[in-house]
Amino acid sequence: MGPPDVEIVLDEAAIDETVDRLASRISADFSDGVVLAGVLRGSVPFLSDLVRRLTIRPLVDFVAITPYAPNTGRVRLLKDLDIDVAGREVVVIEDIVDTGLTTAFLLGEIRRRQPARVAVCTLVDRPARRVVPVELDYVGVEIPDVFVVGYGLDHEGRYRNVRVLAVADRDLLAADPDAYVAALYPA
Ligand code: XMP
Ligand code: MG
Repeated sequence: MGPPDVEIVLDEAAIDETVDRLASRISADFSDGVVLAGVLRGSVPFLSDLVRRLTIRPLVDFVAITPYAPNTGRVRLLKDLDIDVAGREVVVIEDIVDTGLTTAFLLGEIRRRQPARVAVCTLVDRPARRVVPVELDYVGVEIPDVFVVGYGLDHEGRYRNVRVLAVADRDLLAADPDAYVAALYPA
């Protein structure tokens, strides 16, 4: 069996265009400064590209979230923001919003600190599986109900440094976590 075919959602050029577009809008909307709150770890490549294209001068901070128990959808903060966001404008930077549980939980946590404003920017939106409604202010790309890897998104820690965003078959990955290595890492 050869390497599986891959469907590319965003190639490198499309990633550049997407990040440019979002950076322009965020720069225009937050000219008085902003705290970017990156959600570890999937948002790191996206945030890293985004922050260098902003024409404003943001503060950058990170949160990490972990499930309470497997498959419950309930999450808790593993690492909180270090910056006090009271009275500040905040943009949460996500890799993907799926059920919305993670984002809804984070928005609740951040709003308790009484920021002036909280917005959400996500590279990927997969509305098909939404459980909690969340308002997304900046969306890179909307996808149907498929699993994606690359550009920060992982399967069991793999594929985060792939330079494109690609659809991956979870059954194939379950059988062989390296199933997409040949297809997604240039020789
Ligand atoms: P919720 O359901 O809370 O999920 O919106 C958000 C988190 O789930 C992970 N996730 C994915 N990771 N490919 C990935 O690599 C995917 O297709 C995918 N769908 C969900 C991700 O960590 C995200 O922050
Ligand atoms: Mg993940």
